[in-house]
Amino acid sequence: MSDRLAGKVAVVTGAGRGIGRAVATAFAAQQAALVLVDIAADITGVPYPMASTSQLDHTARMCRELGAPVLTAVADVRAAQDAERVAEQAVERFGRIDVLVNNAGVAGPSGKIVHEVTEDEWAVMMDVNLGGPWRMTKAVGAAMADRRGGSIVNIASTAGLVGYRNFAAYVASKHGLVGLTRAAALDYAPYRVRVNAVCPGSVRDAEATEGRMLAEIGRSIGIEPADHEAAFITQQPMNALVEAEDVAAAAVWLASDESRRATGSVISVDGGYSAR
Ligand SMILES: NC(=O)c1ccc[n+]([C@@H]2O[C@H](COP(=O)([O-])OP(=O)(O)OC[C@H]3O[C@@H](n4cnc5c(N)ncnc54)[C@H](O)[C@@H]3O)[C@@H](O)[C@H]2O)c1
Repeated sequence: MSDRLAGKVAVVTGAGRGIGRAVATAFAAQQAALVLVDIAADITGVPYPMASTSQLDHTARMCRELGAPVLTAVADVRAAQDAERVAEQAVERFGRIDVLVNNAGVAGPSGKIVHEVTEDEWAVMMDVNLGGPWRMTKAVGAAMADRRGGSIVNIASTAGLVGYRNFAAYVASKHGLVGLTRAAALDYAPYRVRVNAVCPGSVRDAEATEGRMLAEIGRSIGIEPADHEAAFITQQPMNALVEAEDVAAAAVWLASDESRRATGSVISVDGGYSAR
């Protein structure tokens, strides 16, 4: 326990499991107050389940056990009215929003060459992975700018930096998110609102966070869930997968005042994957 985020109010999307849960608990351990957001329902066209309300409640419990005040919100980042409602509820409960972590994202539908991707498959990926962070930024940006302070952390991916075969929509959505990060950083710089991105490499689906994205990425390219860790490790320069906690540690730094002169940064946490 430490106090690097003491006094800060943070909204974390996709907090029901995975990296979002790791970010939430890392923020709680640094004494942030938390608004934990998740769709907590499946998405038509996404070929694997999203988190449940009980998983979102479990994240909330873990954070409360660390001493954090927590508000949970079931909301879909594809809906502008949901994003606005989250921002309103956060301000009603905690008075302001200091930090927004745009973490909610989907890895599928994927596994097809570009010309096989359908309109619906393309649209759902863009709507969640790129439209979601844009809508959430819209919902909190004006108030942050008025208060002359805030930190927005976008969880992109190495897929925002390099291409991956048969993942065109995911890669395009994450490159778009890196672009949104840079553009928003410039828009908000005069207002002292910082916008940065973290680009994780292949993150291990750990039991404690109940993440499942890496297994689903593997499945979409024909790798059995039991074999996916071994398959992905062969591509990692450090011969190890990234842990969700590694991504959370970068998010803590970006959320805190320690990074007060960092904006528009795109930080890889990928064990060297994108250095090649
Ligand atoms: N796992 C990896 O290897 C990896 C690597 C690089 C980047 N990322 C990125 O990290 C982020 C989190 O991934 P993860 O591995 O924890 O995945 P995950 O599937 O385990 O968790 C994603 C969470 O987002 C929620 N969510 C999805 N769509 C939503 C929506 N429309 N509105 C609100 N909530 C929604 C889900 O319910 C789930 O709780 C994603 O943006 C992903 O692209 C993951």
